[in-house]
Amino acid sequence: GTIWLIVPAAGRGTRMGATQPKQYLPLAGRPVLAHTLERLCQAYPEACLCLCLDARDSWFDTAWVPYDDWRRVDGGDERSDSVMQALEAIADDADDDDLVIVHDAARPCVSHSDLLHLKTVLTQDPIGALLAAPVADTMKRADDHSRIRYTESRERLWHALTPQGFRYRLLYEALQYVLRSGVPITDEASAVEALGYSPQLVVGRRDNLKITHPDDLVMAELVLAAQAS
Ligand code: C5P
Repeated sequence: GTIWLIVPAAGRGTRMGATQPKQYLPLAGRPVLAHTLERLCQAYPEACLCLCLDARDSWFDTAWVPYDDWRRVDGGDERSDSVMQALEAIADDADDDDLVIVHDAARPCVSHSDLLHLKTVLTQDPIGALLAAPVADTMKRADDHSRIRYTESRERLWHALTPQGFRYRLLYEALQYVLRSGVPITDEASAVEALGYSPQLVVGRRDNLKITHPDDLVMAELVLAAQAS
């Protein structure tokens, strides 16, 4: 079947406090999104790309897209709305058991080997899988005043990264369910979990960081340089 690659890049990046959304900030001389798309295309050259962009976006340049076959979809209010828009846009062409791989535009450091490993797992898993990293720090649950209420056990606690991949029909129904229920989610796995399924955690590199704060760009430059050497 076809492999669909959905890249949500329709965020406005308000947490960053920058004038440009974070996916367009310069990283090692090129916009974050250009790095992300290049890495995805190197690992998944056969995929059909669906790129979610804000309808009023004025920064995007089609020259950054290394795919011949790709489409642009308007983003929604939340990340999950953007992904749903993409699923709707491909509905007529996607088969129920086609693989859909979703990767944040804001994760430009994802490694080639992690992308390949995840795809291998996905082709054999009926539910779905995501890159993830075991938590290393001690985790504290706080009250509203930043006072510790208790310490969470970090045993079996993971950071959910992207890509995350699922079969088309399952992801569609899961997202439809959570969007209708109004429960906010921040990744695709959460939607699939809400239907009672348990996606597979695939150990990924901890340097697959998400550009969220200005400091992250400095870190990402170091990661790219280290990976290239
Ligand atoms: O804000 P957050 O870090 O969760 O964003 C993750 C990814 O989702 C980013 O690549 C961002 O551009 C994208 N996004 C989107 N549509 C939204 C919000 C975020 O495509 N409404």
